[in-house]
Amino acid sequence: MRPISTLITEVVDETPTIKTFRLDTGRWLHGNPGQYLMVWVRGVDEVPMTLSYDNGITVQKVGQATEAMFRLKAGDTVGLRGPYGNGWELVGDDILLISGGVGSAPIAPFAEKAASIGVRVTTVAGYRTRDEVHFEKRYKKAGKTLIATDDGSYGQKGFVTDLLKSIDLSMYTQIYCCGPEKMMARVLGMLDAAKVAQKSQFSLQRYLKCGIGVCGSCCMDPDGLRVCRDGPVFRGDVLLKSEMGKYARDASGRRINI
Ligand SMILES: Cc1cc2nc3c(=O)[nH]c(=O)nc-3n(C[C@H](O)[C@H](O)[C@H](O)COP(=O)(O)OP(=O)(O)OC[C@H]3O[C@@H](n4cnc5c(N)ncnc54)[C@H](O)[C@@H]3O)c2cc1C
Ligand code: FES
Repeated sequence: MRPISTLITEVVDETPTIKTFRLDTGRWLHGNPGQYLMVWVRGVDEVPMTLSYDNGITVQKVGQATEAMFRLKAGDTVGLRGPYGNGWELVGDDILLISGGVGSAPIAPFAEKAASIGVRVTTVAGYRTRDEVHFEKRYKKAGKTLIATDDGSYGQKGFVTDLLKSIDLSMYTQIYCCGPEKMMARVLGMLDAAKVAQKSQFSLQRYLKCGIGVCGSCCMDPDGLRVCRDGPVFRGDVLLKSEMGKYARDASGRRINI
């Protein structure tokens, strides 16, 4: 599929390192929370970005492509393919959402969608500092919200895993998590210890090339699950047996430790 050239209608500064891009996707884009787009930044690269709104993506500046996106303004265009991937599966009526940093991108629209159909939503969100806090209003509108910052400048001091210690993980019908892989591995360890890993879903942010399941750059050991096509959302008990949290692969396929 060729990318569709799409107008950026608005750029919102969420934090010093995160921006939301609203896109004029017209009627062609019908995505679900947890699905992603391949975003072609002309002259630079094509990178995966989750739908943080029906017609928007929320991007953290980490390298070449995202730095180039940060220079784009309303009126500029990007190329879009998608939506791709499986997205979250809503299970039950009392869910716990766990977000770290820009892991908020798939979590916030899911919180809103679930709350809109009467599901009880609790969100635990972690950020590095007060300056990086975003989407708090979206979470609060959807339900109970607990915030942690690494340095204690807002909410409780510590990591999301510290907040989780005071929560009875067994009471939720399903637990959903997205954030840096190290953080997700720690969360999965806690869920495993509480014997609820089979009631959880994690969205992985790995290096993708094709996005359609053919190039093999996103395959995970030992089963060869493709993050782009079989995921990016996987059940916790499936990930327990995988390389998740241990190592990943870079653009050249080389193993890098997480
Ligand atoms: C399904 C999916 C959905 C994603 N959704 C979002 C989103 O909504 N918002 C967002 O900001 N990012 C998201 N990402 C991550 C995003 O695609 C990468 O941050 C981006 O590709 C980096 O490109 P770059 O050229 O700016 O950085 P690069 O120059 O490629 O890399 C710079 C640094 O970022 C790290 N990095 C590169 N790719 C990733 C990655 N996939 N995950 C984590 N770290 C990476 C590299 O190891 C390196 O340290 C998603 C990734 C996937 C697989
Ligand atoms: S990115 Fe090509 S198979 Fe997943």
